[in-house]
Amino acid sequence: MAPQYAPRAIYTLAPTGDRFMKVLLTGAAGFIGYHTAKRFLERGDGVFGLDNLNDYYPVALKEARLDDLRKHPRFEFVKDDVSQRDLASRLPSHALAPDAIVHLAAQAGVRYSAENPYVYIDSNVTGQVVMFELAARMKRRPPIVYASSSSVYGSDAQAPFSETARADAPISIYAATKRAGELLANAYRDIHGINATALRFFTVYGRFGRPDMAPWIFTDAILRGKPISVFNDGRMKRDFTHVDDIVAGVVAAADRIVARPEETERVYNLGNNGPVELLDFISTIEEAAGRKATMEMKPKPAGDVELTFADITRAHRDLDFQPRVSLPDGIRDFVSWYKTYANL
Ligand SMILES: NC(=O)c1ccc[n+]([C@@H]2O[C@H](COP(=O)([O-])OP(=O)(O)OC[C@H]3O[C@@H](n4cnc5c(N)ncnc54)[C@H](O)[C@@H]3O)[C@@H](O)[C@H]2O)c1
Repeated sequence: MAPQYAPRAIYTLAPTGDRFMKVLLTGAAGFIGYHTAKRFLERGDGVFGLDNLNDYYPVALKEARLDDLRKHPRFEFVKDDVSQRDLASRLPSHALAPDAIVHLAAQAGVRYSAENPYVYIDSNVTGQVVMFELAARMKRRPPIVYASSSSVYGSDAQAPFSETARADAPISIYAATKRAGELLANAYRDIHGINATALRFFTVYGRFGRPDMAPWIFTDAILRGKPISVFNDGRMKRDFTHVDDIVAGVVAAADRIVARPEETERVYNLGNNGPVELLDFISTIEEAAGRKATMEMKPKPAGDVELTFADITRAHRDLDFQPRVSLPDGIRDFVSWYKTYANL
């Protein structure tokens, strides 16, 4: 049976500033989706959020994010799945006339993609097609801003990674699905005239983050005095980027594509432009937590790249993107949030 929705008239409120967007946002209960929805809502936009609330990590965390978003009168939410081809038929009509679609729903995680590839194909490849079909069938054919990933650069790209690099040698299933999403977007531009922007995120961290990622796992273990697994002797480098900076880039990309739908520059790196070695990253958490880590060294897992490093020249030029949160500040904030969240 089709789910029943009780829509509120979120799109008919007067704008609070000179700008007011109606955004259809997928992955709204996810880490980046939650922060992005919040930013849109805070500046006066309306957000229709969609998420399947899957249990890849605890659903309670997704519910906690939604509880916060639901406080906002211009937020509406439906639980549904972007991999379902009949998605459009189940959404209320007012959700199908957005100014922009921000498509962040995906099965994330490099390592899990080796274990369960099909869910990546369903959510990231079929899900991408479903969202682009949805846009193609809408009267106004809204532009789409969607999440891609630094992992598309694979392990051969020259650092810092530039959007002009070929990105045709992914080393994980996850990366391959993200690159497939970009190529599908190109095809939809040609066939259906759908304008879309890919945002290649680089290792995002911050409050309400992801329990499957290093910042959360390390913080939890260090605060509880448990050992952490450190891969590749801690020599991998990641361009850790604070979620507040990422969200600024996502919102700027949505504003830009709504204002200039015909523009051709359609891929942006959103990263910190300052890779940090894993061991230094762990020291930063130790400092913020006031405790030392017990490290267990492990080999590099298949699919993990040794380095991520974003060239952000293009994002800076077009989106005024400039990372503002330093790693020590961002980690201090995360550790303090985590202590409260986990009751530690
Ligand atoms: N966090 C990072 O460091 C990072 C880096 C690169 C790319 N990304 C991409 O950014 C986006 C957001 O990632 P995140 O870190 O917030 O992850 P997340 O897992 O917290 O958020 C993704 C959300 O999408 C939902 N979802 C998954 N499959 C779905 C489906 N089939 N239908 C509807 N909803 C579905 C999940 O329930 C989840 O709430 C993803 O596309 C991810 O691939 C994230």
